[in-house]
Amino acid sequence: MHNFKYNVGTKVLFGEGQIKNIGKEILEYTDRVLLVYGGGSIKKNGIYNDTVNELKENNIKYFELSGIDPNPRIESVREGVKICRENNLGGVLAVGGGSSIDCAKVIAAGVKYDVDPWELVLDRNLIKVSLPVFSVLTLSATGSEMNGNAVISNIVTNEKYGTYGECLIPKASVLDPTYTYTVSKRQTASGTADIISHTLENYFTNISGGYLQARMAESILKTCFHYGPIAYNNPNNYDARSNLMWASSWAINGLISLGVANKWSVHPMEHELSAFYDVYHGEGLAVLTPHWMKHVLNDDTVDRFVEYGINVWNIDSSLDKYEIANSAIEKTRNFFKDELSMPQTLTELGIGTENIDKMAEKAVRGKSIKGFVELDKDDVKKIYINAI
Ligand code: NZQ
Ligand code: ZN
Repeated sequence: MHNFKYNVGTKVLFGEGQIKNIGKEILEYTDRVLLVYGGGSIKKNGIYNDTVNELKENNIKYFELSGIDPNPRIESVREGVKICRENNLGGVLAVGGGSSIDCAKVIAAGVKYDVDPWELVLDRNLIKVSLPVFSVLTLSATGSEMNGNAVISNIVTNEKYGTYGECLIPKASVLDPTYTYTVSKRQTASGTADIISHTLENYFTNISGGYLQARMAESILKTCFHYGPIAYNNPNNYDARSNLMWASSWAINGLISLGVANKWSVHPMEHELSAFYDVYHGEGLAVLTPHWMKHVLNDDTVDRFVEYGINVWNIDSSLDKYEIANSAIEKTRNFFKDELSMPQTLTELGIGTENIDKMAEKAVRGKSIKGFVELDKDDVKKIYINAI
């Protein structure tokens, strides 16, 4: 296990009705915020009203930036920076899923720098300071509510990249599971696939010694495999929604990766699908994950697949190693297909071979993905082609 520093720093307000406590958290930093949200779901389900009532009760002045797209655009970030500067705002409050929260983060950083915010997406080393970020989470998926990552798209250049800043970690986040009751079946499935993928990206590491991290990752995976279908079939099941919500945060806030972190593999490949075809992030991950697993299964990696098969899927440990590994991969694929009715191929996502060369080149950023198993451009192309 490598050395690490662990200080998430997000005050989590978890549970039904916790919106009533966000005002005083914001007031510790500012009484003027930019309220950032998406295409209007929060107006239909009442979360918008709950939020603005809380801001009004605490005399917090707010300006609004709405219409943040899934796969948030750099144009929205630029607009948000402008509003913050013109109105001298002291914080950014996102209400939504990962898209609104990520957009809010880059706005919060963008205000502090005299460069086009896209520069901050391309080079995370530039981000040292930002306005404080707060979030009200409405969709369990990205973990953005408790980490410093932000993923922004530039549709003009077909680019979608993640950036990071420790200062971007939300100061406080409301995690009210009832706020996710209105999430559609398709988004529930996609979000669950995203949590699973974050956990797998961390679990399949080639840095040894993280026994504890691996066992915690297995628990998060089991939670998703158990509660994902329950939330999918019973949207108002509080236990399912709350377990998925907490799993979303813990899959990607450092707990299971610090000390054993290596570069992720499936995410950079999926970000190209979203950049070129604007697909749901979780659906792209669900299609690619089993193919990536098959591609990287070899004598060096089989033992981790065996642990995954035995500890997460309860596969008979007396079987041959490769039988266990392949069965675990099949169970993963079947989970997405049978339990969450998710697409199985890129074709179903409307993706053909037309951009595969360009997508592979961008996924490896001209070099390679140095993850669990190093993938060069040809590896990525093979994975895409197998997934078609
Ligand atoms: O826009 P509105 O009207 O709010 O509708 C949204 C949107 O259409 C809807 N929704 C959200 N909460 C809802 C709801 N509908 C009904 N009831 C609710 N309570 O769901 C749709 C998707 O929302 P979005 O925020 O786009 O989803 P998600 O949370 O999956 O975020 C996806 C983005 O996050 C990035 C992805 O690449 C993608 O751009 N990621 C961010 C990460 C991070 N910051 O750490 C890591 C992830 O791996 C990921 O890359
Ligand atoms: Zn993700």
